[in-house]
Amino acid sequence: MIVVGFDDYAGQCRGLASALGVPLEIARVRRFPDGESLITMPASLPQEAVLCRSLDRPNEKLVELMLAARAARDIGARHLTLVAPYLCYMRQDAAFHPGEAVSQRIVGRFLADLFDRVVTVDPHLHRTDRLDAAVPARTAIVLTAAPAIGEFLRERVPDAFVLGPDSESEQWAAAVAVPGRLEYAVCAKNRRGDHEVEIRIPAVALSGRHVVLVDDIASTGHTLATASAQCLDRGASGVDVFVTHAILGGDAVAELRRAGVREIWSTDSVTHASNVLPLAGLIADHLR
Ligand code: R5P
Repeated sequence: MIVVGFDDYAGQCRGLASALGVPLEIARVRRFPDGESLITMPASLPQEAVLCRSLDRPNEKLVELMLAARAARDIGARHLTLVAPYLCYMRQDAAFHPGEAVSQRIVGRFLADLFDRVVTVDPHLHRTDRLDAAVPARTAIVLTAAPAIGEFLRERVPDAFVLGPDSESEQWAAAVAVPGRLEYAVCAKNRRGDHEVEIRIPAVALSGRHVVLVDDIASTGHTLATASAQCLDRGASGVDVFVTHAILGGDAVAELRRAGVREIWSTDSVTHASNVLPLAGLIADHLR
């Protein structure tokens, strides 16, 4: 087996290859002046190859992945795995307005046509309950960082009150909290636009409690910022955040700080200053 990584995810790819005890090669990406990409793979590959790249900020990456996967077949790979710890386009799982593309299904089919196996971590599956319904590859594997996040929180914040910011986060909040007997609850959310969300905190006593907001993704940060401000209004002694996928674009971190968030923690599914939990071991255990 070999791991083929990309420069923008090289640290995590190195960690994965080393956890597996297999060689690592980095695919070279050159952007032409007109915006097209040239991908250069190793001269040959063994039959079993793993392409590893997280799919945050995905539009160019998807085209490059297609070029890399097709080239991998040409140079010897017979069984091709995609390890994409963050899987893009999973939230648009329905046409919410007439004519909208159902991106989850379309991108899922695109990846399934390229790869025999797709491995990801805590994908945003909400109305679609199984990954293979979204990504109909021969094998579609969901790994979860929740137990490791739970262990991290038990060490760092043993009195944490785990709060999911919306009903969709219940699966992660429960999986993080329950094994360590941490209390948890989830809020109700109404998203009015990219930068406008309303959150209703449930009727639980937060006064003097150390709240940790847990969610799969923080993108603009507005969901967690709104929840944090309300927890502090309700008397919480502090608010920290743990997300699996720290997309956190633009001024998201500043937004969270303005809303009173102290610590921001994440897995390394998306490279970000908040990364505290490497996923290499979890992914390697599965691939082995
Ligand atoms: C959606 O339900 C997800 O679980 C996140 O809550 C959402 O994507 C966060 O987005 P943002 O940080 O832009 O509010």
